Amino acid sequence: MKVAIITGASAGLGLEYLKAAPKYFPDVDEFWLIARRREKLEEAAKAVNKQCRIFPLDLTQTDSYKRLEEELNATHPEVTLLVNNSGCGFLGNVGEGELERQLQMIDLNLRGLTAVTHVVLPFMPRGGRIINVSSIASFCPNARMTVYSAGKSYVTAFSYGIGEELRARGITATAVCPGPMDTDFIYLGEIKGRSKTFDVMPYCDPASVVIGSYKAALAGRASYTPKAFYKLYRVLAKLLPTKLVMKMSKT
Ligand SMILES: NC(=O)c1ccc[n+]([C@@H]2O[C@H](COP(=O)([O-])OP(=O)(O)OC[C@H]3O[C@@H](n4cnc5c(N)ncnc54)[C@H](OP(=O)(O)O)[C@@H]3O)[C@@H](O)[C@H]2O)c1
Repeated sequence: MKVAIITGASAGLGLEYLKAAPKYFPDVDEFWLIARRREKLEEAAKAVNKQCRIFPLDLTQTDSYKRLEEELNATHPEVTLLVNNSGCGFLGNVGEGELERQLQMIDLNLRGLTAVTHVVLPFMPRGGRIINVSSIASFCPNARMTVYSAGKSYVTAFSYGIGEELRARGITATAVCPGPMDTDFIYLGEIKGRSKTFDVMPYCDPASVVIGSYKAALAGRASYTPKAFYKLYRVLAKLLPTKLVMKMSKT
């Protein structure tokens, strides 16, 4: 049985990954959908004409990776697509506000993504595709979202690293680096209306980001950045002094 696993499939970009998946991965027999809210996942499952298995898991919790691993060991599927999309980002300086929020970003965006990848990889066949949702925040440290942007740098670097490790197995990893999107993320993170940069930067359309990332993944590309504006930002962030880029991109 060929399976696609999508984390954060209950809303936003993850829901778009689910909706578009049957077109780009027609061989998938079953979708495994992971997020905390069961009812949202059940609703999301109606978006595709395929069998869906619901996993209401909190990916900040170690038990959740164990639960996924148990299901993989019991079912022995071929996981041909893994989309590591679950993520959160809170605006605010380190040392201010709740510590819990800073740790939640680390536990979900870094630890959760690493753990899911680790338990899924033994079940991935040659030709398997991994998509790791990173961000333009990975290009340069963003003050006021320091933990988030440092974490997304990890996601991009992790994606490149496993891509190299998996080359001999014929599995590819693609780091997807979108700019702002009008999803729950910017409201839950209390970003909307509180960040000058977020208010003026061009927004990315989640459905278009998904199409671009599926095409990039199928082409075996190591990264995908939507929009010419953010492709240019990526190049500038590599060429210019970090301090200068940080001034330009301050959240
Ligand atoms: N929106 C932006 O401006 C933007 C820009 C660049 C990159 N990104 C990245 O895009 C990805 C998707 O975000 P989005 O914009 O679609 O935001 P979103 O609408 O808030 O979706 C986040 C998804 O992650 C899931 N999630 C949150 N906490 C979780 C947890 N503890 N365990 C398991 N799943 C959890 C949520 O489902 P439940 O609440 O049901 O758990 C939801 O499905 C994230 O990795 C984010 O960092 C977003």
